[in-house]
Amino acid sequence: MRTEPDVAGPFGPGVRRGREGGTELWLPAAPERRGPGERAPVFYNPAMALDRDLNVAVARRARSRGPGRVAAWEMLGATGVRGLRVIAESDWLDSLEITELHPRALEVARENAARLGAAVPIAVGAHDARLPRPDGRRFGYVDLDPYGSPLPYLAALWAAVDDPAIVGITATDTMVLAGATRGACERLYGARPVRGRLGPEGGLRILIAALVHSAASAGWRARPLLSYVHDHHLRTYLAVRRSPGEPPSSVPIGTIEEATWTGPSLGAGAPFGPLWLGPLAEEEWVRGLEVPATAARPDEGRRFLARLREEAAVDTPFYYEPNELARALHLAEPLPMAAILAGLRGSGARAARGHPRESAIRTDAPRPVVLDLVRRLAESR
Ligand SMILES: C[S@@+](CC[C@H](N)C(=O)[O-])C[C@H]1O[C@@H](n2cnc3c(N)ncnc32)[C@H](O)[C@@H]1O
Repeated sequence: MRTEPDVAGPFGPGVRRGREGGTELWLPAAPERRGPGERAPVFYNPAMALDRDLNVAVARRARSRGPGRVAAWEMLGATGVRGLRVIAESDWLDSLEITELHPRALEVARENAARLGAAVPIAVGAHDARLPRPDGRRFGYVDLDPYGSPLPYLAALWAAVDDPAIVGITATDTMVLAGATRGACERLYGARPVRGRLGPEGGLRILIAALVHSAASAGWRARPLLSYVHDHHLRTYLAVRRSPGEPPSSVPIGTIEEATWTGPSLGAGAPFGPLWLGPLAEEEWVRGLEVPATAARPDEGRRFLARLREEAAVDTPFYYEPNELARALHLAEPLPMAAILAGLRGSGARAARGHPRESAIRTDAPRPVVLDLVRRLAESR
């Protein structure tokens, strides 16, 4: 965020006129550091600017190739930065409603909405987003960006989606979903987490499974358009349609059992899940995403999106890393990532870099084949 030097504004010295991406707003002066951001009466986390850049990219993609402009509901607005950036930096929305509980945040969001000068109606109102909307309105885009878990808000969300709709959902209880707190994931999500190196992706897959299940029980079919792990948070965009009910066998949700699992090693503790075992993204959809010229973090956004595009072509659950393969094979040093990728492709497997970590490699080759190939590559060097 860029902020102007202290100009006394209507909200006191803590909230200043600033800019995120292509949008000018009143924003609290929050420190630029990675992580979930501190809860505050008027919440703003500059570390999420890249995430909001991608939100704008999603909006532009939906506008250019989707059925048309839609009404949007930002359930947990804080300053309104997310929805207001989508309004100001894309042409997707024909109206926006922002709800929030904290009175100070509401004041800031109202002023931000009024000062935006948008050509479409924006309403800012007090509402407990855990409760169904009293007006029964439905929206083509709903955004849910909570502190922690999105679960308490899902009933209200499904009651407010149009047919079809896109929903954007964040979870910042990554530690729970990634198994850092023993038992918490089972209690909250009814799923056994993957722990350690692959925990965050396991958490993303547990989250998507829980969202798809929850949607189905409200009569909706939900499928990921784009999903990722980034820093401390998980985010997924789901395409939602009314569904009379799908046979459970057609929904790629399941548990991973040690005896039958041939992907990357998930460590001790199987069975894991239930997890979403289908694609994290729709390949064609992700290929159409572009970092907007107005982005707050254009270079980081382009690098991240390049990874997401690459892995969408080889969207298999979990990933290998050269150092983890070297450890498993007792090699003196890890092979270069490029050599492993080329070796896998040369053997006829599909292989791509994955998004969760710099050195992540996704492939459809089973683990014994991957290990054998890396061993042979190491011997031939
Ligand atoms: C993580 S922040 C939202 C961040 C915002 N979307 C952004 O991009 O900056 C969560 C917000 O939800 C608000 N909130 C918490 N519980 C709520 C509830 N039950 N109903 C409505 N708002 C709530 C908090 O006051 C806080 O401003």
